[in-house]
Amino acid sequence: MDNRPIGFFDSGVGGITSIPHIMRLMPDERIIFFGDTARTPYGSKSEDTIRQFAAQIGDFLVSKGVKMIVIACNTVSATCLSMLRERFPGIPVIGVISPTAREISKLCGREDRIGILATRATVRSGAYEKKILEFSPGLKLFSRECPAFVPLIEEGIIDNEIMDLTVKYYLDDFVRENDINTLVLGCTHYPLIAGNIRRLYPDIKIISSSKEVATAVQMELESMDMLAEEGAGEGVENVFYASDLSESFVNMIERILKADAADLDIHFKNLDI
Ligand code: DGL
Repeated sequence: MDNRPIGFFDSGVGGITSIPHIMRLMPDERIIFFGDTARTPYGSKSEDTIRQFAAQIGDFLVSKGVKMIVIACNTVSATCLSMLRERFPGIPVIGVISPTAREISKLCGREDRIGILATRATVRSGAYEKKILEFSPGLKLFSRECPAFVPLIEEGIIDNEIMDLTVKYYLDDFVRENDINTLVLGCTHYPLIAGNIRRLYPDIKIISSSKEVATAVQMELESMDMLAEEGAGEGVENVFYASDLSESFVNMIERILKADAADLDIHFKNLDI
């Protein structure tokens, strides 16, 4: 048993989409989240810069005494997983790509035509294709970088025509030309626009990286006997740090988390990283 908090991070609000799944699966766990809102988006930055940011945030989470680091960001998982594992040898570090790839290989077969939607850095790293084909050689994979999604989502531009048009801009030709029947939301921001995608492409199956990482965290903690004790989560605070504690960050987190647990105790802190 281990009652220390789990540390999560993302470039912004995206990683939060995995938190409700964690809370449902493991209500006793305490969470420290860091959203690098001052420097988002990561997906259009160079690997060197993303690595430098990820190392700083890892150091910060470790200084807060976390028992595990969850990279709730596909871009960082694609580019920094081994660097972070080497930097923090005593702490399990979990990325989102491997659990999602495992789920894809369970749910899809050779007849499927799978479209991976992700940031530019994730698509260019080839990390999804590599992992998925390791689990299931022969699956038909197509990738599409969608760099405008994250800035719009961070601004809260979601349930409206602008986002619908942006989704169509990236997906109409991609889906038609490749005859896609499954879409992978390979960025933790994208579950926030899953409703738009579902509405515009109702026949396409959607697989999300945010959900799969929660199951991987639970399995890893269980296998290492590091789950929190029963009741340990009661009355403890979950803290959400941001490098720029903007109104949209606070609103978005409240909207995502309070939809699931209205009485949740959430604390926000600004951090100059
Ligand atoms: N949420 C992130 C991901 O899963 C990063 C988005 C970004 O900063 O570009 O890739």
